[in-house]
Amino acid sequence: MKRITIAIDGHSSCGKSTMAKDLAREIGYVYIDTGAMYRAVTLYALRAGLISGEQIDEEGLRSHMDDIAITFTFNPETGRPDTYLNGECVEREIRTLEVSQHVSQVAALGFVREAMVDQQRRMGEAKGVIMDGRDIGTVVFPNAELKVFVTASAAIRAQRRYDELRAKGEDCNYDEILHNVEERDRIDSTREISPLRQAPDAIVLDNSHLTIEEQKLWLLAQYRKAAGEE
Ligand code: DC
Repeated sequence: MKRITIAIDGHSSCGKSTMAKDLAREIGYVYIDTGAMYRAVTLYALRAGLISGEQIDEEGLRSHMDDIAITFTFNPETGRPDTYLNGECVEREIRTLEVSQHVSQVAALGFVREAMVDQQRRMGEAKGVIMDGRDIGTVVFPNAELKVFVTASAAIRAQRRYDELRAKGEDCNYDEILHNVEERDRIDSTREISPLRQAPDAIVLDNSHLTIEEQKLWLLAQYRKAAGEE
């Protein structure tokens, strides 16, 4: 069976990672959440005092880039990879609203993207990889055999994020989350470097009205077609 590269791009909070993780587990591929990498850089910057309000100390962050090591380790309890920042598991810390509120600005910095794209290409060199993000099919792996572009309405995505945070016991506000989702769409799609765009050869999936199980089956069928199994 041919081992391929699968690129999953799309808007924030539209369930890309859930479907990508499930498929990776099912077909024995490595799953890489590139959003988690930008989130880990953001967490690092917040902790180092390099972000205050809307201001990022770009030169400070640039000089720290070599001190930021991001790795993933499979967690047998959840069956999914956890994100590590300099050896510390930060899977929970990178999903807070504070990190979400700053991550798009950090991800728009050219030197941050360069460092992350470089690492992502090395992680995916061996094929048999499912990578999710915003620029995987357009920039990181333009030759990926399967490209999917996922979207859903902003209101539905905000509701999903709200439910997720509440389930983790976080105090949150729906309107604030909706605002964050819309703001991230705007920044991600209008930034100068590698904006969120659908690759011309990507298959579009609007999952506004699909269940997780339905998405999973849809993606599995696309994978089989692309890997030449049917
Ligand atoms: O998928 P996510 O919400 O965890 O992504 C966090 C942020 O990182 C999002 O605002 C866009 C950015 N991002 C990016 O610019 N490029 C990627 N490949 C992945 C994420």
